[in-house]
Amino acid sequence: MICKLINADAQSILTLVNNAAAAYKGKIPADRWKEPYMPAKELKEESESGVEFYGWIENGGLIGVMGIQRVNDVTLIRHAYVLPAYQRKGIGEKLLQHLLALAETSRVLVGTWEAAPWAIKFYQKHGFMLLSREETNKLLKNYWNIPERQVETSVVLEHKKPPAPKKTLLLKVNAENPDPAKMEIAGKIIREGGLVAFPTETVYGLGADARNPAAVAKIFKAKGRPADHPLIVHLPDISHLENWARDIPEAARVLAKAFWPGPLTLILKRLPDVPDAVTGGQDTVGLRMPNHPLALELLQAFGSGIAAPSANRFGRISPTTADHVREDLGDAVAMILDGGPCSVGIESTIVDLSHSRTTILRPGMLSAVEIGRVLGRVPLSADDPLAPPAIRASGTLEAHYAPRTPLVLMPDDSLPITLRNAIVQKERVAVLATFPAPFGHPLIEWHVAPADPAGFARDLYANLRILDALGCDRIIVQKPVGQPWQAIHDRLKRAAAGSGVDAPAT
Ligand code: TXA
Ligand code: MG
Repeated sequence: MICKLINADAQSILTLVNNAAAAYKGKIPADRWKEPYMPAKELKEESESGVEFYGWIENGGLIGVMGIQRVNDVTLIRHAYVLPAYQRKGIGEKLLQHLLALAETSRVLVGTWEAAPWAIKFYQKHGFMLLSREETNKLLKNYWNIPERQVETSVVLEHKKPPAPKKTLLLKVNAENPDPAKMEIAGKIIREGGLVAFPTETVYGLGADARNPAAVAKIFKAKGRPADHPLIVHLPDISHLENWARDIPEAARVLAKAFWPGPLTLILKRLPDVPDAVTGGQDTVGLRMPNHPLALELLQAFGSGIAAPSANRFGRISPTTADHVREDLGDAVAMILDGGPCSVGIESTIVDLSHSRTTILRPGMLSAVEIGRVLGRVPLSADDPLAPPAIRASGTLEAHYAPRTPLVLMPDDSLPITLRNAIVQKERVAVLATFPAPFGHPLIEWHVAPADPAGFARDLYANLRILDALGCDRIIVQKPVGQPWQAIHDRLKRAAAGSGVDAPAT
């Protein structure tokens, strides 16, 4: 029977360990052995310094004893003795199992002056690692405060349990009138280096303190994104431009005044103190002030730049609802602010103003025409031969925004014949088009999307997720044509290129 031994048991513990010592005597090299095994004084000190003792009682006698100590997030197993005559009965193992269960911490260290072979076996079976002498000395000094002389003869093993999974906090917030108390909690999480997913007008972002490289590193980990891909820094207002960018051209101020808050990201030369983790080591930084009351409230509550990529796994479809974020990122994020579906639906237009030639790196629903109208000159597109050399940007990768089902784009007049062929082949096909199905068939899942570009874009990613979840052999999307559909066509092209694979191309 296992029981907790309170301080009053010190004498019986002492008797037990001295019995054990007597039994061991002669079997352990003399230089590793000092008598008495555990002096009463030391035992008393240990109980007083917070070591908890547990014992195994059999027939009214104490035949095994173990001690643990909790120091911050670490549990130390300091003693694990069983009288030699009882070792083969597995009593020691049961006691250790009990101690491991008590150790609710993420880290357990074992330190004994001389670990018995059965105990070493137990530790190894449970994934403990024998530490080097150097590490042992350091740990013993840090945690036990044991002088060198005793450290010499110690065995320390270390076990790292995976930390208990933290649950994501899902907060519904009224987007039009965000509750300041909730935004304060979100701001605090970001201030403390945590991740908060939040809605913007384009897609949901995965936010972290842009000045804190450790917090930014969490974004890359949660997304599975290569570390050299830069992030957009979201700003609470235009005046914050000066905190992140240098040599700001007039064109940047003109665009910011015209379109911020809004779905426009400006690439500008960065100030030296912008962390490399955010810029992917480039000399530029992407900045945007989102047009969403909840995002703006969060930025106000935090008071500085929030680095935020789209809150999806790298290469996958961007999220436009809180549920999408949850599906993709699970518990990798401390908090998800649910402000309902995004209104624009595809990512911001990225304009590079760090070169003499203004270039659109990523088209968005804010079109080149509108930007050109305000600037007084038409910006180049990224594939223009006159455009500056390509900059690394995941939204400009050939394969991106991709469902798992193979996706193809198809002009609307080829759809009927393609579908008839698919039916002959017994293929199950999901279709996304702006018009109703010309005919019905059990193998065809037809999904009607809004016929205007703004509506189509708003629903695009949610529609792709729905069609992907049907598990069809193919997704066919009506190929959009014309200037107002340019950004949508861009996303669909990349979705097609990256589709049908489990791990996205990088
Ligand atoms: O609408 C949006 O822009 C959303 C919302 C959350 O704000 N954000 C977004 O972030 O789409 P993300 O990380 O998924 O895409 C940002 C794109 C990436 O392709 C990245 O490489 C590019 O912006 N980017 C960021 N900083 C850059 C820089 N300094 N130079 C070139 N490209 C940059
Ligand atoms: Mg993205």
